[in-house]
Amino acid sequence: MTTNFRSDNETPVAAAIMDAILEANQGTAWAYADDKWSTKLDQVFSDLFRTEAIVLPVSTGTVANSIALATVTPPWGSVFCHSGAHIQNDECGAPEFFGNGMRLVPVDGEQAKLTPSALEKAINANEGHGVHSYKPTSLSLTQATEGGTVYSPDEVRALCDSAHGLGMNTHMDGARFGNAIASLGCHPAEVTVEAGIDMLSFGASKNGCMAAEALVIFGQPQWRETAERLRKRSGHLLSKMRYVSAQLLAYIEDDRWLKMASHANRQAAKFAKAIENHAEASLEYPVQANEVFMKWTMEGFDQLKSQGIQFEVWPGRNDLARFVFAHSTSDEETDILVNCMR
Ligand SMILES: Cc1ncc(COP(=O)(O)O)c(C=O)c1O
Repeated sequence: MTTNFRSDNETPVAAAIMDAILEANQGTAWAYADDKWSTKLDQVFSDLFRTEAIVLPVSTGTVANSIALATVTPPWGSVFCHSGAHIQNDECGAPEFFGNGMRLVPVDGEQAKLTPSALEKAINANEGHGVHSYKPTSLSLTQATEGGTVYSPDEVRALCDSAHGLGMNTHMDGARFGNAIASLGCHPAEVTVEAGIDMLSFGASKNGCMAAEALVIFGQPQWRETAERLRKRSGHLLSKMRYVSAQLLAYIEDDRWLKMASHANRQAAKFAKAIENHAEASLEYPVQANEVFMKWTMEGFDQLKSQGIQFEVWPGRNDLARFVFAHSTSDEETDILVNCMR
């Protein structure tokens, strides 16, 4: 048995999703997202989010984020995000590349979250010299956050109100959106469009799919053309998009996405409890989704590694490690990890 808690990107495709791929693999189908699966997505996501939605299936979270932000941000515009955001630290400048000079402005915040006061302070500190400054254009939040915490609908609403009050657009990086909704137990619309989010990168690859993500635009049909052209221009309009779209449909059907995410969250909670009961180790952040950040010593981490547990010691920190739980993490695997902490 592998006891791999390194990343939810390393997990297999869920059986039901693989079945959907095989089912889509019959005969010919129109190319470039004109197939019968892709053309259903707008309606299915509109139903899911209780509002008119435009959906662009894509293959990576990086491209979903980059297209979203470049669609609404001019080259002289800035995007405010948390200093730990994936768009800031882990996308090799892709959003700025797509945005032709657009820049990201990192903002600090506890528990990997932004607050309206920190956002407003950063905007005031960074902009304000008219044509000489970048124009604050967009806000990007990550849900669940890079620290494994989750924004409540009220927290999202307060941030979106601040951004909209300044004429800015709002984006949510939902690479782990399913884990966030499973944790909150709220309707997916409540923490997105109904809280003021304009665009969502709806992640699926980490939670049972294979190279399947969706860029969802809420109620802004004028953004469709730019987003679609950026997707094509960047080489991300797959000719055989049916295989991505069929996965997204199966992912949403029967609440599969929430069932898989709930399973992952439950495993993370079990490990969090073991850390809380441990004499030396402690939690860096409250565990609210499927990621656990454990503070301990290098000797402690080495001891876990010597027992075959795979995880990531956080870059730049020798006292912090990340453990990620997924739809495919078995109870047995989590128990092995928990027992190693005894
Ligand atoms: C918070 C977050 N956003 C976006 C992504 C998307 O990344 P990728 O382009 O590898 O699909 C990831 C993947 O690790 C992530 O953790």
